[in-house]
Order: sequence, then structure tokens, then C-alpha cells
Amino acid sequence: MPENKSNDWTIIKILSWTESYFKDHSIDSPRLTAQMLLAHCLGIKQIDLYLQHDRPLQKNELSRFKALIKRRIQNEPVAYIIGEKGFFESDFEVEKGVLIPRPDTETIVEQALKVLNARQKDFKPKTVLELGAGSGAIVVSLAKKNPDHVYYASDISFAALAIAKKNAQKLLPGMMKDKISFFVGDWLSSLKKFPGFDPRFDLVISNPPYIPTGDIQNLQPEIRRFEPMLALDGGRDGLDSFRSILKDVHHYLVPGGTILLEMGFDQKKGVQNILKPYPEYQSIEFIRDLAGHNRVILIKKSID
Ligand SMILES: C[S@@+](CC[C@H](N)C(=O)[O-])C[C@H]1O[C@@H](n2cnc3c(N)ncnc32)[C@H](O)[C@@H]1O
Repeated sequence: MPENKSNDWTIIKILSWTESYFKDHSIDSPRLTAQMLLAHCLGIKQIDLYLQHDRPLQKNELSRFKALIKRRIQNEPVAYIIGEKGFFESDFEVEKGVLIPRPDTETIVEQALKVLNARQKDFKPKTVLELGAGSGAIVVSLAKKNPDHVYYASDISFAALAIAKKNAQKLLPGMMKDKISFFVGDWLSSLKKFPGFDPRFDLVISNPPYIPTGDIQNLQPEIRRFEPMLALDGGRDGLDSFRSILKDVHHYLVPGGTILLEMGFDQKKGVQNILKPYPEYQSIEFIRDLAGHNRVILIKKSID
């Protein structure tokens, strides 16, 4: 590690040093990681690192940066270190206790936008519920793109909901800031608790935990050691959440309403088996991601 004492450490020099240090420690994307951490440490944009390439680092900046390097070497994900992750069209605040939104999840957002934008004779706002909202990446992205609909979002984790609310406040414009109603709950069970409230949604969307318990130990340390198990562990076959959600969700959908669920690329058969006993689910379609894997299931509730 570089010494703190001298101001020989210019931005460009420390970037090169950190890149090779990260390479030696098998850190992914070593240059980009070095840039992201240094820009965060100095409170400037990545592009400014190059505009100010010969600026020497102050002693306190150098020791702050060393602390960030150490965290990354100990496998902490960059998103937790810098406190944010880009998803869809926004930067979402994240911290330990909330899943870092994945690029894969943009597939389900795109599908949901198709459902919300489907042509209809007279415009009627649709009611949308996200189950397991985490950082709010899905529901906030939808509300930002389609402000005319009505949004609800829940999670069993108070910590996750607090971050989702913050993201809604930060990313939705003026009048929209309180557009999403957030509530804590175990999948759909909390909806039964509101007497006189008989919700029926046009769209229910979820990216539930779907990793089989036995596979968790094989995940990268970044995920296994830092991300919340509640967001990852889908039980013995990874499908516990699908069983819970699909058992109840038809009670909370309008006739012809839509369910969108993200799933593991190899879970098609398992999900099909779960759906078999439910005549309420009429049309079932598996949607592939850009890599050609089945990653989203789109289900329509029957009309009658
Ligand atoms: C895979 S993460 C998805 C987070 C976010 N929607 C995203 O796509 O980035 C699953 C989320 O489901 C939540 N969750 C787990 N079990 C739940 C339950 N029984 N009821 C409601 N939410 C649950 C977790 O806390 C976590 O935030």
C-alpha cells in the first residue's frame, strides 16, 4: 500500500497502482473499480479523475482511499462501498441489508412496461403491486416511466423498505414522491389484515429469492458474505417463494390481471409444476433474457 506521507501520489499514479493491486488480488474490472472508488472518495465524477489527473492526493484523502481499497479486497461489493448502483435509468441507493439490483432484472422491468403500456380503449390507471421490493429498483423504475398508474410495494424487511422509500423520494419527481404506498408484509399475507380493504391489482410483479439453499455456499464471496440471505435463499429447490406467492396471488388480481415473476434460468419445469393445480392461471409464457435464458414468467389470470 502507498505511504500516506508524500504528496507524490497524483490521481493518475494512484489509479495505476490500485489497478495493478486489484489485478493481483483477482478483483473484477480492476481499472473501473479503482476509478469508481477514487471518484467516490474524492466526491467527484469519474471523468474528473482524468481532467485532474496530475492533482496530488492530500494525506487524509489517501488514507480514506486506502480504507476503501481494503474493503474491496475483503470482497465487499463496490455498490455497498460507494452506496449506490445504477439500474435501468437511475442510480439507486443501496446498503448492506438490501439486495444490489442486477442488470438481469431489467428484463422484468421491460416486460412490465409492455403490460402497462398495452393499448386500451379508454385510459384507466392500473394498480400495480411489487412483492419483495428490496431497494425499490423495479417499482421506482416503473413509477418513474409511467406516473399515471397506482403503485404499492411491500417487503418483509424493514431495512429494505426504508431504502426503497428513500429511493422513491430521491428519484421520483415533485408530485410523484409519495406515489408509491409501501408496506411491510410476508408476501400477500398482510393484505388480508386490512378490514374493508379489498385490493385487486392489474399487475403483480416480483423478483423473489430463488437460489436453492444448497447452492448459496458456491456463490461468490461478494454475494454470499455481504448480501442479505433473505433476498437470496429460495429454500431447498429455490422455489419456496413461488409456491407462497402463486398460492394466493390469484385472489388479488382483477380478471385478466397479470403476474410477472423473475426466476432462475433452470427453473422453468419447477415453476410449471407449481402452476399445475391452479386453473385460475390461464396463459403462461416464459420470457428469455438477452442471453437466451428463460428468466421471467408472465401469467395471466383467467377472465372469469
Ligand atoms: C431477490 S430480492 C429482490 C429485490 C428487488 N426487488 C430487486 O429486484 O432488486 C427479494 C426480496 O424479497 C424480500 N423477501 C424475502 N422473503 C419475503 C417474504 N416472505 N415476503 C416479502 N418479501 C420477502 C427480500 O427481503 C428481498 O428484498
